[in-house]
Amino acid sequence: MFLKFKLVILRIARWFLRPLLRRKKSLMRPTEDSRKALVSLVESLQCDRQMVMIEVGSYRGESAQIFLGTNRFSRIYCIDPWKMYYDANDGAAFTDMTFVENDFDQRLKGDDRVVKVKGTIDTFLEQYPDVEIDFAYVDGCHTYDAVKHDLHQIMTHRRPKVAISGHDYYSNWQGLRAAIEECLGKPDAVFPDSSWVKFQQK
Ligand SMILES: C[S@@+](CC[C@H](N)C(=O)[O-])C[C@H]1O[C@@H](n2cnc3c(N)ncnc32)[C@H](O)[C@@H]1O
Repeated sequence: MFLKFKLVILRIARWFLRPLLRRKKSLMRPTEDSRKALVSLVESLQCDRQMVMIEVGSYRGESAQIFLGTNRFSRIYCIDPWKMYYDANDGAAFTDMTFVENDFDQRLKGDDRVVKVKGTIDTFLEQYPDVEIDFAYVDGCHTYDAVKHDLHQIMTHRRPKVAISGHDYYSNWQGLRAAIEECLGKPDAVFPDSSWVKFQQK
């Protein structure tokens, strides 16, 4: 009963704080350098045909738009629950996800290479059991457990043919680097925006 009451109060408070939360929503790729770094990551991929990729954590669709802008991908599965409060240490988790998701929709609308998957890597695996992937970019929840889960699910159930990668290798997220190294070993390259890559074809 008390818990229900608390939830109602939280919802009402959230409603009144909406304009503030909206203002707080941040851009993920604000500088030219951070956008160029992602393009360099794509340029490092050795593949002479158009690739199929998944992105775990798409937020406003900025990185997805950069990936698509390289014209190296025929399809991108953008996987994101678009739900607040997924990690107490991540500022993005406190932005208004309704607005963030709307931004994503606006940014990528009309591009038929984009498949929006509202959920997690497990949702993707369940909804698209036959889709083979060339490339994965992991930039979802940054806790040790979440990164381990994402990498484990990808490598066990949908191993990419060309490379697996992600964001924030050099960051303050405790455990993120450990999770990457325990699952995959040291990355083959780390880019100026802290994107990392492990090639699958040697
Ligand atoms: C750092 S943002 C992604 C930024 C985006 N890749 C970019 O560079 O523009 C992290 C996103 O991960 C999403 N997220 C949180 N938990 C997730 C999970 N378990 N699976 C997939 N995405 C998740 C959040 O909703 C948020 O939109």
